[in-house]
Amino acid sequence: MAHPQDIVHQLSIRDPEAFWQHHAQAITWHTRPSRALSRQKKTLPSGTTHDHWSWFPDGELSTTYNCVDRHVREGRGDNVAIIWESPVSGRRETYTYRQVLEEVEVLAGVLHEQGVRKGDVVVIYMPMIPAVLFAALAITRLGAIHSAVFGGFAAPSLAQRIEAARPRAVLTASCGIEGTKGPLPYRPMVEEAIKLSASKPEKVLIWQRPELGWGKLDHASGQRDWQELVQDARKRGVKAHPVPVKSTDPLYVIYTSGTTGLPKGVVREAGGHAVGLILSIRYLFGVRGPGDVIFTASDMGWVVGHSYILYGPLMVGATTVLYEGKPVGTPDAGAFWRVVERNKVNVMFTAPTALRAIRKDDPENKYFEESGKRGALRTLRSLFLAGERSEPSIVETFQTLLSKYGAPGAQVVDHWWSTEVGSPITGIAQHAEEGLTDKKQGSPAAAPLAIKPGSAGKPMPGFDVRIVDDNGKEVPRGTMGNIVLGIPLAPTAFTTLFNDEERFYKGYLKRFDGRWIDTGDAGYVDADGYINVMSRSDDIINVAAHRFSTGAIEQAILMHPFVGEASIVPKQDSIKGHVPFAFITPKHPPTGGGNNKQRLPARAPDALFNEINSLVRTQIGPIASLGGIIQGVGIIPKTRSGKTLRRVLRELVDNATRGEFDAAVSVPPTVEDAEVVRAAREVVREYFSSEKVKARLICYLPSMGKCPIVSLIQAS
Ligand code: COA
Ligand code: AMP
Repeated sequence: MAHPQDIVHQLSIRDPEAFWQHHAQAITWHTRPSRALSRQKKTLPSGTTHDHWSWFPDGELSTTYNCVDRHVREGRGDNVAIIWESPVSGRRETYTYRQVLEEVEVLAGVLHEQGVRKGDVVVIYMPMIPAVLFAALAITRLGAIHSAVFGGFAAPSLAQRIEAARPRAVLTASCGIEGTKGPLPYRPMVEEAIKLSASKPEKVLIWQRPELGWGKLDHASGQRDWQELVQDARKRGVKAHPVPVKSTDPLYVIYTSGTTGLPKGVVREAGGHAVGLILSIRYLFGVRGPGDVIFTASDMGWVVGHSYILYGPLMVGATTVLYEGKPVGTPDAGAFWRVVERNKVNVMFTAPTALRAIRKDDPENKYFEESGKRGALRTLRSLFLAGERSEPSIVETFQTLLSKYGAPGAQVVDHWWSTEVGSPITGIAQHAEEGLTDKKQGSPAAAPLAIKPGSAGKPMPGFDVRIVDDNGKEVPRGTMGNIVLGIPLAPTAFTTLFNDEERFYKGYLKRFDGRWIDTGDAGYVDADGYINVMSRSDDIINVAAHRFSTGAIEQAILMHPFVGEASIVPKQDSIKGHVPFAFITPKHPPTGGGNNKQRLPARAPDALFNEINSLVRTQIGPIASLGGIIQGVGIIPKTRSGKTLRRVLRELVDNATRGEFDAAVSVPPTVEDAEVVRAAREVVREYFSSEKVKARLICYLPSMGKCPIVSLIQAS
């Protein structure tokens, strides 16, 4: 008999209407939807028509009501909703559902008094403190739309997002506390971003942290003290009731990197999000409701934070752990396991990068073993990994530990998804029978499917996953190809981009003539139907499970007066998976011949590296810091139409990090000059072949005789 996970998936694809109407019962609706799915055609201003779909189109709901009020009304007000663990500030706080309601209804009242109304956008730029969760819930309570921006983004990146989202207000804090570096003031970033943005928010609410205040508020530009406003509102009994919105109204917009420099505003619709997220947290994560504790080590600036720190856990009435700290260094590699122990965590979610960092600092797994031997990790039923590919060795290491010290049958679950889709596309369901729409459909007590290290599991309900070639034709099992999704996507997924339907079509549908949604990932399905996500097929790179556009990094680098051309590719990194690596061409190249060293710019190459890297850090953020630069002339291959062949450079760098300098790379017949590929290969060989050289920047000039390298710089 088929496993319940396979049965559930088939049910969801064969009859989405029946499947999702059944699961819509998990929500308290203000207006119950009469149907789950409607399909339409959309015509773009350019005249192109494409398929469009809506989930629960005539339903109405309040997500905050479902996350908070209903638990209090139904007698669960004293259950713990949020535990805040902040090893960096040495604090720990807990909030019951009743306390969360008290915080959120007053804050929503404050926001209303400050002019925020249903349909307005409010940007959140905050560290990982409880106020960030109250902020999102309060905005949602008013039927407004939040747009959270990761606190590690620099002012110009924040400005881009403010300009695109046009928020009525910005909610921020006086500082973030990043690792062991101490308080990082947010004021310069927020003020600079607002200065740079053409759109100006009317109000900026500032949560004052004891570690570092904001300084004197600039009232004229709308700055207000958050806590003062709340205190005052509380005295006056100001509160806001939940405002229901249409199922298809946006709950939030989250900006993510596209292939160009401009971020894409992914729109999350309220109804589909609520229904799909409740199913995913119960079905895939096995977090079924009150009494279950989930610890998601992410940030509210990312989709993972939205879905599995905030909305998923609270919708089912579970306890969520909000963590302000790092996997290592705050204070050590045992930090995560202590959080699990102290809070009796049942389900944990992190990125493979974090586990690699832990493994590096604690190669013997001393911390895990210590806690495990005390029996302190017995509550842990699963460890979820996503954000980037999990190499088999990391899964195997932690599966061995979990089998020894976790709950019986505990699994390490690699699962694959993206900002666009809002919940996992693949994984191993921890409570598969939750998805069945009729008890007779499968054997209810089945254990989860076995994991296969290296694979991200099997499809989740509503996601029709296919592997196709570049013409959109499906390929046989076991063959690598583009991973695409059939329409409609599952209810948590986007159906458009904020104010940019045309880009939605061009970015996701056009490549395969509107037939499939392009995920931008490449991989294969094995004989048992498990999906293996191997790499990106587009110009996006993944650094420490954060996603960046190569185009955006190139734009930052091109601001340097020396740089005429830049091409960014991922370089493998033992902790972060990948880091950005740059090929640059000087704007005014030296001509070659004679003493070329003297003809290079007077500035020392390591200084140049620092200047270029600091542009990336100040334009995008320090999380996008470069892992190296090669500069030269005639080393960036192009097609005859002038398109940069990043893929060729990427393959050269990839091969070189494995020591395979002569391995074949796929050079398209349209290459303008095959000699450039040869030159690129030589310079990459030079950069990566010397073990003693931790070169960060090397220079290359063509037509120089034997060795094209003119300087090789030792890293500082
Ligand atoms: N605010 C301000 N700066 C930030 C920041 C934030 N929220 N987050 C990171 N930075 C800065 C860091 O201070 C660092 O600055 P530096 O170059 O001046 O030292 C830089 O950005 C890079 O940070 P990070 O990528 O976090 O590297 P790290 O070396 O400090 O830490 C890891 C390495 C592996 C511990 C860290 O990358 C990590 O925790 N990764 C897991 C990420 C994750 O969970 N992703 C999942 C998202 S779903
Ligand atoms: P983001 O939108 O920032 O969440 O990034 C999504 C991208 O991260 C995906 O499109 C993949 O490229 C990558 N990703 C996420 N999870 C996985 C996984 N489990 N395996 C491989 N890649 C992943």
